[in-house]
Amino acid sequence: MSDPGAGVSEDPIEPVLASTARDDAVLPATVRIEAGAALIGELRVPGDKSISHRALIIGAVCEGTSVVRGLSLGHDVRRTLAAVRQLGAAVDEPEGAGGVTLVHGGRARLHAALGLIDCGNSGTSMRLLAGLVAGLPGTTVLTGDESLSARPMDRVAEPLAAMGAAVAGRTTRCLPPISVSGGPLRAITWTPPVASAQVKSAVLLAGLWADGETVVYEPVRTRGHTEELLALAGAALTVTDEGAGRTVAVRASSLAPLDLTVPGDPSQAAFWLVGACIVPGSEVTVRDVYAGPARVGFLRVLSRMGGRVTISSRADQRADITARYGPLHGTVVDAAEIPSLDEVPILAVAAACAEGTTSFRGVGELRVKESDRFAAVLRLVASTGARAEAHGDDLVIHGTGGGGTGGGGTGGGGTGGGGTGGGGTGGGEGGAPGAPLDAFVAQSGGDHRLAMAAVVAALAARETSRIEGFGCVATSYPTFLDDLRALGVSPRTQLLAIDGPAGSGKSTVSRALSRRLGIPRLDTGAMYRAVAWAALERGVDPADADAVSAIARAATIEVGPDVVRMDGVVVTHEIRSPAVNRVVSLVAAIPAVRAALVERQRAWVAAHGGGVVEGRDIGTVVFPDADVKVYLTASAEERARRRHDEAAEVLARRDHIDTTRTVSPLMKADDARLVDTTGRSVEAVVDEIVSWT
Ligand code: DC
Repeated sequence: MSDPGAGVSEDPIEPVLASTARDDAVLPATVRIEAGAALIGELRVPGDKSISHRALIIGAVCEGTSVVRGLSLGHDVRRTLAAVRQLGAAVDEPEGAGGVTLVHGGRARLHAALGLIDCGNSGTSMRLLAGLVAGLPGTTVLTGDESLSARPMDRVAEPLAAMGAAVAGRTTRCLPPISVSGGPLRAITWTPPVASAQVKSAVLLAGLWADGETVVYEPVRTRGHTEELLALAGAALTVTDEGAGRTVAVRASSLAPLDLTVPGDPSQAAFWLVGACIVPGSEVTVRDVYAGPARVGFLRVLSRMGGRVTISSRADQRADITARYGPLHGTVVDAAEIPSLDEVPILAVAAACAEGTTSFRGVGELRVKESDRFAAVLRLVASTGARAEAHGDDLVIHGTGGGGTGGGGTGGGGTGGGGTGGGGTGGGEGGAPGAPLDAFVAQSGGDHRLAMAAVVAALAARETSRIEGFGCVATSYPTFLDDLRALGVSPRTQLLAIDGPAGSGKSTVSRALSRRLGIPRLDTGAMYRAVAWAALERGVDPADADAVSAIARAATIEVGPDVVRMDGVVVTHEIRSPAVNRVVSLVAAIPAVRAALVERQRAWVAAHGGGVVEGRDIGTVVFPDADVKVYLTASAEERARRRHDEAAEVLARRDHIDTTRTVSPLMKADDARLVDTTGRSVEAVVDEIVSWT
């Protein structure tokens, strides 16, 4: 759907809400967390990413329709989903988080991809898919974003070449894009030189097409999800554990469809479990989490710190995990306890709250994650009033030791963090009782785990904290804010008040702002229009103040992102009719109508924690304290041109009534920024407004 022109509010309203968890899930750029709210309740977290990738790829090979519940909906898994479609599988997507994904697969459906397969930032997608396509006749090219293009694929290319596929990439390290020319494969016995679940998986997937028994021996066991799912699908597979190592052997086999509920991702559960340990008054249960020993090292660390964590195991390495608030103390964490290092940022937040010193030994690899996570963690911790130091590859955190007195005794910022994440707004007196951290402003630097860790830290702060660059969380946890709300915390985003006359560009600009900032939009004009429509529909005189305000008070008006409903009736298009245009200003001039609708507008913003709200009196009356107030104008000719379907005299009359009525007339608030949209592009106007947020 395209915007036919600036200021035309009649064009279809596009979906912009963040909570839909669809492909285009947009999360707010900035989130504010007020002090004092505990985390209470139980939840499931998104499906484990590693298992989700494998469920899609193995589902594509299974003969028939696999049923997968609770698939991760993060960006990386979506890359794999798109890829298996390109390779010939059909995938019916779930309606939302936790829903059912159907994968219609089978060998006969699969073929080399015609176009490029774009793995985005997902190394798992690229390595596993390389193994899958190695057995498909023809050439498939796998590409990725700039960061993935710098990650070597030679460790996958070598065994696949040994099996008979031709794999080519850039430089001797086989950097992406890579091309894989597949065909009949030979079985091999392979020992990856560096322990890697991805390389093991690629070889096993290729082994599904090979002419004999393919064996992978790993001296140190890595994640076993691929062999677990292959076994579930009935592959001819044997797994033998010997000491710390494992041998997996697979033969060509016809796979039966999967029926699988993906367990929750432990690295996502970690945010809520640590949160419950550090936020006074909290108790959280995360249900059905994957609890394979290699993935829950963080729970052992948390318990060692004194965390009140209980694990009740289910079958198949799944568990329900409960954590409660209680005092923590420092510990020593070895990198090997948390092989992926994924939970280091959130454990660092726990360490910041703990009494004494916590050392994370040998975690230098954090420097080459999604961001320089090593420096980012130092910055975040320092901004909370705890002290953070880098000792070579060790990260050392001296915690504040709990609530009450603030971080005063522990000194200032970290060494080596660069200090840009600081800017704390103070804490101490008057804040949340018992909260251990200073309020802070944090920048995610585009790192999703850092952004989520910062939100959890903010819950343990004494005053309101702000997290900027939060939108990147959509990469792995698009429903993070929904889950935060489910645990009883209402995050605040931003509130933008956009006022101006008809045709000034409010709707188009608001929609674009909403999309850009990842916050929902409310068109208050649609509410007045809905009441006007109902008056006409019910034969009520639009000038009859008592009768019309009775309608407004009693009505249920839903102004959604793509649909407007009045008392349950869809009126999205009807409220834009010439008849409504003629009377809406009369209706909007009735004080009791305004009072009823203003109350709902405030309730909507309270429920959403912010929004882009457009209207005539938003910055002056409804939200005089909005974070950003904008008054849009445009020349009379331009406005008339944009509202070409509204007779010029009707528009002029509407303007006159709107600006001269006694209650909340359209006018610029003293502190609103005036923006003349005449002759300017939507993008330029939006850029300017975003620069004020
Ligand atoms: O933005 P719009 O043209 O859809 O608004 C329809 C009418 O509603 C407009 O003529 C004035 C009125 N209105 C108002 O009085 N206050 C608002 N906050 C929004 C709209």
